[in-house]
Amino acid sequence: MAPDAERFENTIRLSATDRGLRAAAALLRQGRLVAFPTETVYGLGADATSGGAVAAIYEAKGRPRFNPLILHLAEAARAAELGRFDANAHRLVEAFWPGPLTLVVPQRAGSALSPLATAALPSVALRVPAHSLARDLLAAFAGPVAAPSANPSGRISPTTADHVLEGLNGRIAGVLDGGPTDVGVESTIVALTDGPPRLLRPGGVPRAEIEAVLGETLADAGPGIEAPGQLASHYAPQVALVPGRGLADAGALWLAFGPLKGRRGLSLSDSRDLREAAANLFAHLHALDAQARAEGDLRILMDDVPETGLGVAINDRLTRAAAPRD
Ligand code: TXA
Ligand code: MG
Repeated sequence: MAPDAERFENTIRLSATDRGLRAAAALLRQGRLVAFPTETVYGLGADATSGGAVAAIYEAKGRPRFNPLILHLAEAARAAELGRFDANAHRLVEAFWPGPLTLVVPQRAGSALSPLATAALPSVALRVPAHSLARDLLAAFAGPVAAPSANPSGRISPTTADHVLEGLNGRIAGVLDGGPTDVGVESTIVALTDGPPRLLRPGGVPRAEIEAVLGETLADAGPGIEAPGQLASHYAPQVALVPGRGLADAGALWLAFGPLKGRRGLSLSDSRDLREAAANLFAHLHALDAQARAEGDLRILMDDVPETGLGVAINDRLTRAAAPRD
């Protein structure tokens, strides 16, 4: 595990009581990680408006790349503040929310979401779970909660608090114990962005039921950005990212890791903290890209980031941002 990982002696198991819920919501507000039951699987929750909290999810899971996460809300009205729902989306919300259906829709401009939660995509994945504890927690927290399944990367999804603890004890602040979940598989994901509705992931709501409500068949996910792990060059800056090792270019813009020391540009983290670096990554790429284009120098030099802990996911993203594009 990364040397900068936040460690806990033990993860607190919180009971499904008012006190447990209040404690879980308070931890989320402090930017800590809390696993909680949904009707599908246990989710690993973090405040989706905090880049540091979302970075901690990737760190705890040991995820080697920044996939966009599902944002969980207490009710559909809150979800509509983050995404734009067309007529099809409204039909699906009416039929299946709360429940095991995630909708990927265009993201509203100016939302408070951390770009790390959505991997800086223009779309956003939204879900209103049906589990009563999940809903109570989301209502008490009163904000969007990013939550992938609460298991280390590459392991199976947890359906009990014990499963969560087997994988993540000591790596997260708490787990809200609501007993076994009943669906046991993740939510179905449907994209309603452009073109026909697409099935991105089969899950808790059967495809046929969704097609019956829409009155049309769902297209399968193409090779676009939506297929998990295929987010390749989306959000690649338009300028070239170049490893700056050994270069001393006074005019260049830098994406630094550590102090800028007189160089122009932005530092992911002055203190070389990987969590802080992850939290800043997309916003800094965006800002530097705009600045480089405005200045007409189509190059950003970047410092090396260590290939440990969150550095693996950061480097994955930087490498793809640096990859040649057509
Ligand atoms: O049942 C579930 O959905 C569970 C519980 C905890 O709610 N959550 C879950 O989250 O499975 P996660 O992070 O493991 O799955 C997120 C999936 C990924 O496959 C990701 O690619 C997709 O959602 N996704 C998220 N945002 C997206 C977007 N803007 N466009 C396309 N796909 C997106
Ligand atoms: Mg998962």
